[in-house]
Amino acid sequence: MNMRLRIHNILHAYTADRDGGFGAVRRFDNPQLLIEDGVIQYIGDDPVNNYDMSIDAGGCCLLPGFVDAHTHPVFSKTRESEFIMRVQGKDYEEIAASGGGIRNSARHFQQTPKSEIKENTRRRISFFLEYGTTTIEAKSGYGLSTEDEIKALEIINELNAETALEMLPTFLGAHEVPDDYRRNRKAYVDKVCEEMIPRVAERNLAGFCDVFTEKGVFDLLETRRILEAAARHGLKARIHADELHPFGGAELAAEMRALSADHLVEISDEGIRKMAEAGVVPILLPATTFFLRKEKYAPARKMIEAGCQVALATDFNPGSSMTQNMQLVWTIAALKMGLMPGELLWATSINPARSLEADNRIGCVEPGMQADLILMEIPNLEYLPYHFGINHVRMTMKRGKVVYKNPRMKGE
Ligand code: NIG
Ligand code: FE
Repeated sequence: MNMRLRIHNILHAYTADRDGGFGAVRRFDNPQLLIEDGVIQYIGDDPVNNYDMSIDAGGCCLLPGFVDAHTHPVFSKTRESEFIMRVQGKDYEEIAASGGGIRNSARHFQQTPKSEIKENTRRRISFFLEYGTTTIEAKSGYGLSTEDEIKALEIINELNAETALEMLPTFLGAHEVPDDYRRNRKAYVDKVCEEMIPRVAERNLAGFCDVFTEKGVFDLLETRRILEAAARHGLKARIHADELHPFGGAELAAEMRALSADHLVEISDEGIRKMAEAGVVPILLPATTFFLRKEKYAPARKMIEAGCQVALATDFNPGSSMTQNMQLVWTIAALKMGLMPGELLWATSINPARSLEADNRIGCVEPGMQADLILMEIPNLEYLPYHFGINHVRMTMKRGKVVYKNPRMKGE
């Protein structure tokens, strides 16, 4: 039986206007929605009369659920001691070199049973729904051995099936060179290409492959080799590019037609031009810049002017961005990158969906799209980044089902 669900008493609904340019917003005043079988059938001014169930939005605003296309949620221990070291003035690379960073996480990950990491991850990802994110891209990358990378991807796939949050897995075996390969990094790249990627692909554990392309981590040649091996096995490319040093990662992403290049604080003008031309989605992570105590943010405005379809993500991870809160990302991107509310909306809904090749079903409030929706207790879109550091979400809906309800919800 098809269940028809009506949502009424909405103050405004906002969604990307896909007929307009980047940042163009479609606003509905006092609309009603009809959802059938988890898919939006109707949004507009006409009253919906034929329905089985109804939700009173209590005068909240309605937005598409956020799509967070860059997260690292599968880790063992948290790293608050590194945070304190940064507070005392040490920088990210110094901390990593002195035994912290990704290798520190990998050591713990390898010693922790899968069941324990899975339960920790389950608890951590519940915050996404609570803060309005209905889909995440989720990377492995703290395993750094074949067995442990597979352990991470299994956890993502299992939680995707067991919880309401949609998780699209990315294999990130090339997140760092692990301790036992420091003197023979080529052997690790061989292992990633010849052992890990085929095993991940064989079991269909991930749709994407990512590389941390950075000075002192993986260079351009290694990145190319890994992403070519991934492509041969049907995994689509994403790249951590030009985060800490200008490195040519954006140019490589364009040349390889990656789906996204992420971070991009140090991107060159040539890199921007090539990414725009190739249609690579820049995924910018301003919460990371903030959390690393850096002053320089990715040049979002330049990218937009060049015609890039910019996206924003949390980069949720225990080292450089310990937050699941996309609303906070809106505020940081507004203040530090000069993004306007309509641009923030595009950058957290339809554009990240495009980078996941899922923009035919998520990222927009339109008939035919999945009913991934949030109700927020805000008077208008401008208010969202303005009143910062609190959670405006009153209700989150995934595929037409209520998956989070704030106890302070007005109405029903
Ligand atoms: O995206 N840049 C590489 N990876 C993560 C950091 C991971 C960590 O420090 O644990 C990032 O910021
Ligand atoms: Fe990252």
